[in-house]
Amino acid sequence: MQIERGMVAVVTGAGSGIGRALVETAASRGMKVVAADVEQPRLDDTVDAIVRAGGEAIGVATDVSVAEEVERLADEAWSRFGGVHLLCNNAGVFSGGLLWERTLADWQWVMGVNLYGLVHAIRTFVPRLLAAGGTAHIVNTASMGGLVTNAYSGPYYTSKFAAVGLTECLAHDLLTTGAPIGVSVLVPSLVATGIASSQRNRPERWTDRGRERTADEEFVLAAMEDATVGAGMPPAEVAALVFDAVEHERFWIPTKPSYHDQIRARHDDMQALRHPASAQLD
Ligand SMILES: NC(=O)c1ccc[n+]([C@@H]2O[C@H](COP(=O)([O-])OP(=O)(O)OC[C@H]3O[C@@H](n4cnc5c(N)ncnc54)[C@H](O)[C@@H]3O)[C@@H](O)[C@H]2O)c1
Repeated sequence: MQIERGMVAVVTGAGSGIGRALVETAASRGMKVVAADVEQPRLDDTVDAIVRAGGEAIGVATDVSVAEEVERLADEAWSRFGGVHLLCNNAGVFSGGLLWERTLADWQWVMGVNLYGLVHAIRTFVPRLLAAGGTAHIVNTASMGGLVTNAYSGPYYTSKFAAVGLTECLAHDLLTTGAPIGVSVLVPSLVATGIASSQRNRPERWTDRGRERTADEEFVLAAMEDATVGAGMPPAEVAALVFDAVEHERFWIPTKPSYHDQIRARHDDMQALRHPASAQLD
């Protein structure tokens, strides 16, 4: 889809990291922006910055794990701007540690945001986009952790594998039905964002009140902080790759050349019926 001035972009997880960079890039291309996030102060800050720079943006406080809130987000987009052309389902959270040590609330939170956030958005936005009839594009943010695996991040990887599968199925269904809606899946390697401190936005209903963090959890979060904030790619570079992929109708949006070796190694292991190699994300 060719991006044109005046088109409308909806971005979830817009208050920080990749989402904020997507908002800034959309605004710099003359798009009107509907920014959604569960963290109100950062959402306000994102919107204020766009408006101060002369762009058009609104913020809609949205918890993407709640279907009604995603419906309200779509209502706001249509009532304010009359349509949507680019939908970036980007909000996501991380919970680290050994798989069997994760609580049910850990699983519900990570799957609630990373998988059901996508489910709610697709169920809400796609019928409206089809009814509107114009060209549109949907970008779902998954992760390299949706293609390859390693230790200590089970719920996150599981949710991101599901996000990749969901996005492939969405692309099949839209193509089969001849809908004018393109689809891409963003599979970033490490990016300098706030993902390691995801717990800051954990909703009350999925907290483990009174529970101490386990040693394995502490270890992974510290490693994640170093790898992302310390050594990750700048989010603006990721956003530029997303817009280039949308304009060239590319499905996969990796952020590092190592993507090719990582998926080749995975497929070699599968062909040889071997245990999957531990992914070295960069
Ligand atoms: N940073 C990385 O290295 C990396 C790598 C691969 C994939 N990703 C993915 O990129 C996406 C963006 O994350 P980021 O790295 O920019 O992290 P981030 O923490 O900087 O940004 C995530 C944003 O999502 C918001 N959010 C969290 N829960 C939400 C909810 N329930 N509803 C609405 N918004 C919510 C947060 O408030 C935050 O503003 C995520 O899906 C993440 O899994 C990140």
